[in-house]
Amino acid sequence: MNERETLKVNAKGHLEIGGADCVDLAAAFGTPLYVFDEAHIRKMMRVYRDTLQEKYGGNGLVLYASKAFSCEAMYLIAAQEGLGADVVSGGELYTAMQAGFPPEKIYFHGNNKLFSEISYALDCKIGCFVVDSLEEADFLDREAEKRGLVQSVLLRINPGVEAHTHAFVQTATPDSKFGFSVFDGSAENAVSHLLGKRHLSLKGFHSHIGSQIFEKNSFVLAVQKVLDFAKFIKDKYDFELKELNMGGGFGIWYTDDDAKIPVSGYGEYFSALIAAVKEGCAKDSLPLPRILIEPGRSIVGEAGITLYTVGAIKEIKGLKKYVAVDGGMFDNPRYCLYQSKYTAVLANRASEKPEELVSVAGKCCESGDLIGVNMALPKAKTGDIMAVLSTGAYNYSMASNYNRNLIPPAVLVKDGTAEYIVKPQSYEDLVRNDVIPEKLRK
Ligand code: LLP
Repeated sequence: MNERETLKVNAKGHLEIGGADCVDLAAAFGTPLYVFDEAHIRKMMRVYRDTLQEKYGGNGLVLYASKAFSCEAMYLIAAQEGLGADVVSGGELYTAMQAGFPPEKIYFHGNNKLFSEISYALDCKIGCFVVDSLEEADFLDREAEKRGLVQSVLLRINPGVEAHTHAFVQTATPDSKFGFSVFDGSAENAVSHLLGKRHLSLKGFHSHIGSQIFEKNSFVLAVQKVLDFAKFIKDKYDFELKELNMGGGFGIWYTDDDAKIPVSGYGEYFSALIAAVKEGCAKDSLPLPRILIEPGRSIVGEAGITLYTVGAIKEIKGLKKYVAVDGGMFDNPRYCLYQSKYTAVLANRASEKPEELVSVAGKCCESGDLIGVNMALPKAKTGDIMAVLSTGAYNYSMASNYNRNLIPPAVLVKDGTAEYIVKPQSYEDLVRNDVIPEKLRK
């Protein structure tokens, strides 16, 4: 088993997270259950924040990319740790506001922000919009004028850097739906468009090359390309880069195919980016901008696990063994979407060695509903508690009520004590918005 800082096997041979016995958690809260280790989340937030302080005098802001896991408690923790937040929808923004998150530290992303979302964000007085279309810029300018504001914006540019990750989570390929390309003139055109807006104040540029990326070089290359663009724009438009947002994307450990980066290693990634900014600015005689990064997965991914109870076990002789759990694609659609790989542990027998490779199946009505294939486990029995590791990012946030299954609750564990941060859904919740028109009843 992979020993991470947040997990260990206790004297009973049970898996523990944040000091809480996973078998006890399953008994107290039921399964499926998302469990998050608060200490690990805070450690990850601090390593980014402290690196910014040490290596760059704190001139910037670390934004938690809240799409990775969004709920009120997460925004509160991020605020307590001095982070800002990146939001990508009115719903994420609303959640942040409900948690009392400081709006001036919110950055709003999205390739097609709805006008209603833009108006709402202006009313909330968020700090910055990351503009991703000319339509957005025009609407934002008009709405800012109506409110007598000059709104800070960044321009999302596509530096065309290829990142080694699943195609669906690459965002800087030439054909990406995100950002204005630096290669076909559209980024320059967007800069000149924004500079002509009286109620928008362009602060600088944003780029994000993708997610679950390990190569430092891809990140560094992206910084260099954005700075080259900034230099070109400075020379042509006399525009000074005040802020540079380098996005998120640092990879995490899911299985032993992935590097297991210690917490401090993420500080080293960030330091490499900071060094690239300093070097690039020195080379091009640009003043040092405020810098921002937007880690999501690396903050919350390894801090979370999902607990399931093993149900049906089906062996198809000579072919395959399925171990079915009480969750599935409705709480973790990542295998279905990206063929993601996970590590599973039997939490009640965590010191036992894996003996066989099985497919862990969910309970949904479709064959593709798997948590993973070829997962190494001891011989699982009905009633075992299975922990799937590194499920903190993009699991709850992409969960659904498919097949009218209930989205599992989430608990936050600290010093062995767990409390709900997302309550369980009920069957009543499922029908809350259902309506039977009177006519149908006749
Ligand atoms: N900033 C921007 C503009 C982004 O689009 C993203 C992720 C991030 C920051 C945070 O990236 P992270 O540090 O979490 O890698 N659902 C997919 C991941 C989609 C990522 C979307 N954007 C998955 O489950 O792998």
